[in-house]
Amino acid sequence: MGLAYTIEPRLDLASAEGWHLHDRSGRLFVDLTSGWNVTNAGWNRAEIDVAWAKQGAASWFRPSWCDNSQLDALHQRMELIAPGRSIIASCSGSEAIDNALKLARLVTGRAGVIRFEGAYHGSGTGASLATGYHVPHLDPLLPHAPVLDLPLPEEPGAVEVAEAAIRAFEEAGALVFETVLTNMACRELPKAYRAMLSRVCNELGIILIADEIGTGMNRLGAFFSTLDGVPDRDQPDIVVSAKALTNGLYPLSLCLVRERLAMQCDAGWFGSTYAAMPSACAAAVATIDMHLANGLGQRAANTGTAFAQALRDQTAAVAGVTAVAGAGLELALHLDWKILKCQGLTPFTLLERLADAGLFATLSPSENHLMLMPPLVTPVDVLFGAAETIAGVLARA
Ligand SMILES: Cc1ncc(COP(=O)(O)O)c(C=O)c1O
Repeated sequence: MGLAYTIEPRLDLASAEGWHLHDRSGRLFVDLTSGWNVTNAGWNRAEIDVAWAKQGAASWFRPSWCDNSQLDALHQRMELIAPGRSIIASCSGSEAIDNALKLARLVTGRAGVIRFEGAYHGSGTGASLATGYHVPHLDPLLPHAPVLDLPLPEEPGAVEVAEAAIRAFEEAGALVFETVLTNMACRELPKAYRAMLSRVCNELGIILIADEIGTGMNRLGAFFSTLDGVPDRDQPDIVVSAKALTNGLYPLSLCLVRERLAMQCDAGWFGSTYAAMPSACAAAVATIDMHLANGLGQRAANTGTAFAQALRDQTAAVAGVTAVAGAGLELALHLDWKILKCQGLTPFTLLERLADAGLFATLSPSENHLMLMPPLVTPVDVLFGAAETIAGVLARA
């Protein structure tokens, strides 16, 4: 499977705050993207900026062999939101997924990667291996990479087919998944599918890696959807966080590793000069504190339920809308482009018309479904207005 990106209208971004974006001509937009799950706490939050700048004024860099009190503070916050886990720090989401896969390979001695069809996990070598479509730069590097693609949840007998395939894939060392498959237009992985993955990976000694780069940091209503309320035995071995961890202010990513697995490695093996810089950690601590102080998890859960219902109600009679997919504020409106194109709409003109109506949105790769991932602080009545506008634009197509 290849993956195609549609050319989208470009926004000449001048400034942003909360759930609003301004372009250089003075137009104002409601943001429905969070920059692809980055600015979960709202754009340009002063609280995070101040904490980051204060640490930067003291020392923005520290060599890895020096104490780092900001990293200590981050460890304390992580103990609150992802208890009992060790941290391997890096800079990008892709780098953290690479680290998770390296760790899996080290402890299992097996190189095979199980992944979901169409999922995206980053552009590094390991992350590309976990990415469920053809990535051309891997071919010369790993021409015979051992990978297995799992079926999407809507495919008939998906859970049983996936279990049989995992059992037959003897080279499997790691399985990478998301609770909501972001790139695949927010298809949600049902509980039964997730339970099977935990059970089979436990039994076969496959390292289970949850990519929470998109679904984490309260996007689905909890800091980490694979840890919150999940019994210990069903939790993934490694949870990966990035992007919204610092609300986009500074590059920082983490592998949150179960203690019993962390004991089998030395975090120093995954060293990186810029990982866990004091100012990055200060930004992450301020971000987490902001989420906690504003109850953003509960807020995202409530707002997400209300927004999804409003989208269903508003688009019920609109031809070309097939489903509202996702969970929390990680949603997508699935569209039938055969119908919409007959009515003169294209993916580009849809985004253009939404922008003309004051909404900044983006599309899922290949299928061009409408992605809806607003900052978690967006008021619910603003999202009700967005649902009405989207339905109006599609109905007028
Ligand atoms: C789910 C998911 N995983 C991993 C990545 C890679 O993160 P980064 O771009 O920080 O390398 C992305 C980026 O879009 C993502 O959405």
